Amino acid sequence: AYPFYEELREDQPIFPMNSNGTNHSWMITKYDHVKELLKSSSFIKDQSKLFSSASKDTEQDDFNIFQNMMLDVDPPDHTRLRKLVQPYFNPKTIKQLEPRIREIADDLLNQMKQKETTVDLIDDYAFPLPIIVISEMLGVPAEDRDKFRQWSNTIVSASNEMDPDFMDDVEAFTTYLTELFEQRKAEPQDDLVSHLIQTEEDGEQLTRNELYSMIVLLIIAGHETTVNLIGNTMFALFEHPDQFEKVKDDSTLIPGAIEEGLRYYSPVDFSTARWADEDMDFHGQLIRRGDFIVASISSANRDEEKFERASQFDITRERNAHVAFGFGSHFCLGAPLARLEGKIALEKLLTTFPDIDLNRDVNPPEWRSVFLLRGLDSLPVSL
Ligand code: HEM
Repeated sequence: AYPFYEELREDQPIFPMNSNGTNHSWMITKYDHVKELLKSSSFIKDQSKLFSSASKDTEQDDFNIFQNMMLDVDPPDHTRLRKLVQPYFNPKTIKQLEPRIREIADDLLNQMKQKETTVDLIDDYAFPLPIIVISEMLGVPAEDRDKFRQWSNTIVSASNEMDPDFMDDVEAFTTYLTELFEQRKAEPQDDLVSHLIQTEEDGEQLTRNELYSMIVLLIIAGHETTVNLIGNTMFALFEHPDQFEKVKDDSTLIPGAIEEGLRYYSPVDFSTARWADEDMDFHGQLIRRGDFIVASISSANRDEEKFERASQFDITRERNAHVAFGFGSHFCLGAPLARLEGKIALEKLLTTFPDIDLNRDVNPPEWRSVFLLRGLDSLPVSL
């Protein structure tokens, strides 16, 4: 994808993807354009605002666990929803999780030590770590994580919402959550699910639909992103042995390596999109109200106009103002958590297994074929 993006930035930075005659879909690839799109209130998340309010009301009557996610709505709904969960994700609150994250990392590394077969850094470490953390924050049993993995994977890989497997998984996920909510209603705990159920029962700030979609969003975000941050950064380090040696000798370089991993192999690419709320001239291109604009984060993060030697991985890069976590009002809620998990994961891994390397006896790792995300299915290593 990277050479293709480079060509687009050069030749057609506002690239027409398709058109239905009246409206277009565009892909934008330049860093400055992406930032402008994400911060401008002329571009919105909620497509239904472009139609009459009547059609929106009918849609809202249907129960749908993906509807009204904070990620997909605009102010004032977005502001209200974000405020409900923000306190749980502030850097200060997240910092308090540090000892527990270290413990989880240690447990996983101990299990890896005991393995006789090849270790897969994704399955054995990068995946379970963030899942256990988010499961504990939400209050969903970590034993159920294989189910979540399947559901979450079906949802992000779905190309057709009428696919029977997709519909079965969505139904199973919904039933699971309904049971969990009932249980927490009866016996509230000190966790995010109990807190949100209480808010929903108070009836003012959170609807039933929003309750489901908030939990679904946090589960999916917790499953599909940090695993890629850890996996992709380790993979980039294996590809650059000189820098890998430096990080092993000096753990203060780890936060810089994480930031560069986020920029160089951005875990989330295409999921950031907006609808134009008015006709406008966007850098010389006429954009009409109702046009759909997709921002390529991977491309923005490799824009030579913003980053010197953009196509090179450099853990000592200064002023690394990447947009891997987005920008503006929808800036990633989980960024402090993901950064802390990434830092601890690498610190623990490199001190426990200083000789860790890519297992070069097997086929090289391959990128998962999920359109919106960049991550590896497996990363076999020798310890
Ligand atoms: C939003 C990336 C980890 C929760 C976003 C956005 C991006 C992103 C690009 C903005 C989307 C847009 O503007 O359309 C990432 C990356 C992660 C990561 C690269 C890991 C390396 C997490 C984690 C959580 C999380 C661990 C929570 C458990 C969210 C939520 C939003 C969001 C709730 C929506 C925020 C809003 O709409 O106000 N993320 N994310 N993310 N992320 Fe993350």
